[in-house]
Amino acid sequence: MTTFPNGFLWGASTAPHQIEGNNVNSDWWAQEQVTPGMELSGDAVDSYHRYREDIQLLADAGLNSYRFGIEWARIEPLPGRFSKAELAHYRRMIDHCVELGITPVITLQHFTTPLWFAKDGGWSAADASDKFERFVTEATTILDGVEWVATMNEPNMQAAIMTAMKRMQEQAGGQWQSPTVEADSDEDREQASRNFLTYADPTISRKFVDIHHAAREILHARTDAKVGWTIAAGALTAAPGGEAKLEEIRYGKEDIFWEGSRGDDWVGVQAYSSQEVDATGLVPHPKRPDNTLVGTTYRPDSLEMAVRHATEVTQGVPIIITENGIATRDDAQRIRYTDEALQGLHHAISDGIDVRGYLHWTLLDNFEWGHWEPTFGLIAVDRDTFERSPKPSLAWLGAVAARNGIA
Ligand code: FCB
Repeated sequence: MTTFPNGFLWGASTAPHQIEGNNVNSDWWAQEQVTPGMELSGDAVDSYHRYREDIQLLADAGLNSYRFGIEWARIEPLPGRFSKAELAHYRRMIDHCVELGITPVITLQHFTTPLWFAKDGGWSAADASDKFERFVTEATTILDGVEWVATMNEPNMQAAIMTAMKRMQEQAGGQWQSPTVEADSDEDREQASRNFLTYADPTISRKFVDIHHAAREILHARTDAKVGWTIAAGALTAAPGGEAKLEEIRYGKEDIFWEGSRGDDWVGVQAYSSQEVDATGLVPHPKRPDNTLVGTTYRPDSLEMAVRHATEVTQGVPIIITENGIATRDDAQRIRYTDEALQGLHHAISDGIDVRGYLHWTLLDNFEWGHWEPTFGLIAVDRDTFERSPKPSLAWLGAVAARNGIA
């Protein structure tokens, strides 16, 4: 048996907009109503009301940690007007975790923002950081006793989403395609590298780093939490002749953000697949029969690759795997993928890399940013009755957690 470090966190991750339902004051909700090709989040899977059941299922399976987000759009529905009731709602979630012996890992911002913030220029506005800092300050009032806090989820992916939405607005008649879902194979590599160029806009990337540092300072001053953020890791590799382009692309897509983690208490690594870079840019995922429902290749080894890269660029900041999983209808494939990913993770830990936990993406099948088809969940949900049906993968991961090891 392969054993993980003592006190290792084993759990699952979620994001508020993807599971709660009726997040009506957010920028995403507004976008969904007007964007062709985008499915609606609607009631999502009603976890806003059913979080007790969801956390109970996670605990009953044997997991010991739950990553969830608090929704800025609910907590601050109007600029500077905070809802005490919504803050209390999220505090109840934290308390429920603690009662069940579950360590909460809290994300303060996961892709969505209040609609008023978006209308006022979003992250591009000159005072975006001031607004976020005001929210973070208020959020600290409910974080007593919370050990792990992420300021933001995947600022690098947020930059991509901002770009995709802008492109939609510019191209009347275009169809929505979430950047978390690979474009169909007919999207050419030229499109992929053009996407990259906007991802790499250093002005917005550096701004995210500055905003993160400002939020970190507030959290350190007002709480005892360990503070970090979570980053989308591409596990990029060079095709022959692509070495220089790899460095360039990886810097813009990731490394600027890993560098921004230096001085943090921890960093969240989020890995799903791996991709090549050749001399002209990112190579689209090859079409294989076992490609995932989001069009990426089946690459459980991407987790180990991502962890090794993260530790190198952050210069050894402690890591939590805050997302890793697979969009598939075949739950046996999910178990196989996770088992292989954990084998690789264990190799990295054996080499001395400081990894504190593994939180699988995701607890529940959910709203995948404009698409309902890709199912990443350990639990299936009937979207009419909201009945939860745990899949075998939930019990499997719970058993791994209970023995703190893989067979
Ligand atoms: C990540 C996001 C998460 C989910 C997974 C599949 O990029 O953080 O919300 O969409 O991908």
